[in-house]
Amino acid sequence: MTTAQDLVDFTHDALRDKQFVAAIQREPYIHMKTDDGKIIVQKQVGGVGVLLDGILRKTSGLMVAMASGDADKEFIDSQGRVKVPPGKDLYTLKRIFSTKKEMDRFYYGFANQTLWPLCHGVFVKPIFRASWWRTYVKMNRRFANAILQEIKGKDAFVWVNDYHLALVPKMLRDKRPSLSIGIFWHIPWPTLEIFRICPWRHEILEGMLGADFIGFHRSFHVENFIDCLREEMGVIVESEPRSVLYKKRLTKISHLPSGIDIDEIDAALTNAGRIDRRILEEDLGVSISSKYLIVGVDRIDYTKGLIERFRILDRFFEKYPQYQKQVTYVSIGVPSRVPIPAYKAYNSRVRKLVTRINNTYRKNGWQPIHFIDHGVDREKLFEYYRLADVGLVTPLDDGMNLVAKEFVISAQADKGMLVLSRFAGAAKDLYASILINPYDTEASVDALRDALIMKPEEKLRRNAEMRRVLEDDNIYRWGIEFIRNTTTENLTHKFL
Ligand code: G6P
Repeated sequence: MTTAQDLVDFTHDALRDKQFVAAIQREPYIHMKTDDGKIIVQKQVGGVGVLLDGILRKTSGLMVAMASGDADKEFIDSQGRVKVPPGKDLYTLKRIFSTKKEMDRFYYGFANQTLWPLCHGVFVKPIFRASWWRTYVKMNRRFANAILQEIKGKDAFVWVNDYHLALVPKMLRDKRPSLSIGIFWHIPWPTLEIFRICPWRHEILEGMLGADFIGFHRSFHVENFIDCLREEMGVIVESEPRSVLYKKRLTKISHLPSGIDIDEIDAALTNAGRIDRRILEEDLGVSISSKYLIVGVDRIDYTKGLIERFRILDRFFEKYPQYQKQVTYVSIGVPSRVPIPAYKAYNSRVRKLVTRINNTYRKNGWQPIHFIDHGVDREKLFEYYRLADVGLVTPLDDGMNLVAKEFVISAQADKGMLVLSRFAGAAKDLYASILINPYDTEASVDALRDALIMKPEEKLRRNAEMRRVLEDDNIYRWGIEFIRNTTTENLTHKFL
């Protein structure tokens, strides 16, 4: 298994004198004021930020990210920098500041109402607004300038993270042609028929082509992306290594499914000591008398298939009434991008559906669904997964989905079984879980029942197989491969 030390050693050798810089929209540590005037540090609970934070802790370096806490300004030096994690000071976080209007147009606007729906095949229409686009360009420029200001004349390796920062590679390349720049696109890439409706498609693609390497989680996203490049940019496509030639520069493009930090989960569960249901009941203020426990954790987002999941549960209790009072579903739904109308509407649909299902089946103190609508500490989530009989993860389209992977590692191997949507990027690695199409309610209901009645030996076998895959392709290996792909010699000269 690739270890944290392997990543540190590799980075050291591969980067030599290059500075390690990561650029990401969401900062991993947020300084917040509480109502009684105290300052707390909120740590991000999941997703990509946690992956990059893990890598940066081991490699030092610099992270450039958007400030989001109301006390963030109180902890920075004159250049916007603060050492993190607070108290441990393992790396530097440089905070980028923005006005509310900029945030509305950049993050809530172009990133999450244009690119997000454009890239996810879930039939939510992207909104194209010139003012959002202009602010997107402006904020990408702010990131690029902050990076250039920090690295000064030095050589650097820059890891650009995700769809918020598509233009940063070119902005950096134009100013500093010799930098090593990689961008990882964590969400799906749509087909040409969909992508071509975007008025700024050319600028987005050109922005990304400033990178030496572009990574996606799945190979069909790579193929979609290359189709778009061929059509829109007239690139020449090379196959060994898979790359494109554009304006006399080569950019490598590959799929590189991200892994998780298995050691982190194993250590958290060992430290937790005895884990029993009472902990979950006390933490979440619920009482669970049923034999079986199903757990799901998601941001409340229309791509996550929450409505479909609740429909599956509804039909499950109707079709298999013997499971009423025997099964409880604890759904941790973390509010997300709340001001966006499509998210608001989704949130209220989800709540209405949960209320209806609970009213239909509730009896003698048992209620089928406990919907917890706040975040929970990351370590606690691993404990809840460990208690679960089933992890239910049902996205309608998802680049990867790390919750699914974290569930498999946290679960008790002869007890917990993952029921996973085929439309999560993670489904390819987690082929030994029970895979479903969440739109197919009837088949999913039976899959859920299969998970509940699966023999412990069978669960053990499947979970062991998935653990092996996740051990091989863990976060450290992913980090190494991303850095390797970005920093190995750019072979442009071979193709000119
Ligand atoms: C997805 C994106 C990430 C993003 C995360 C959470 O996984 O790929 O870049 O950080 O969602 O979304 P949020 O808008 O809360 O950062």
